[in-house]
Amino acid sequence: MSATTLGSLDLNLLLGRFDAQKGTILGASRTERRLSDLDGIFLDESAYRAARALGDALIYSVEAVEPGAGDGDLHYGLGVIQPGRIGQEYFMTKGHLHRWRQAAELYIGLSGSGVMLLEDEATGESRMLPLGPGCAVYVPGHTGHRTANTGTTPLSYIGVYPARAGHDYGVYASRNFRCAVVDDAGTPKMIKR
Ligand SMILES: [Fe+2]
Repeated sequence: MSATTLGSLDLNLLLGRFDAQKGTILGASRTERRLSDLDGIFLDESAYRAARALGDALIYSVEAVEPGAGDGDLHYGLGVIQPGRIGQEYFMTKGHLHRWRQAAELYIGLSGSGVMLLEDEATGESRMLPLGPGCAVYVPGHTGHRTANTGTTPLSYIGVYPARAGHDYGVYASRNFRCAVVDDAGTPKMIKR
């Protein structure tokens, strides 16, 4: 499929007006993930159940701009993860691979402080990288990626990815990431699950 052209795009697709604090982009579609959407992914089941007993808190939101579906097109999303923990494990995204596995992605930190957990699909090698203002994290293809808020304020960031990338949540829904990011006396630490 050929890429989208200048003349075919509305102004609000050419110019994204976003609010990093609210996590909104004018005219974008919004996805919200609450505690109940993250059942089974945290290490500490009893801490998860205790948190659920208090309600179904918003954990993160993503607003995405998807101008076209051509081979050369780009999509991007603005994510905001709320601060908090389940046990020692920070609030985080579900995490995914791209359906089109070779698709890379660039994350750019806007505010707050967090980390990205990267996992090579073939080898299982895992890396934890900081994400916040002044940090751009390159996620190679064939790499599972999850983002966690390790600070005390909302973590916001933009992710830019090929339109063809797609999202595959199935792998981690069935077996989770090999590592977790936990608070270790005030410092984020990557541990084996
Ligand atoms: Fe992605």
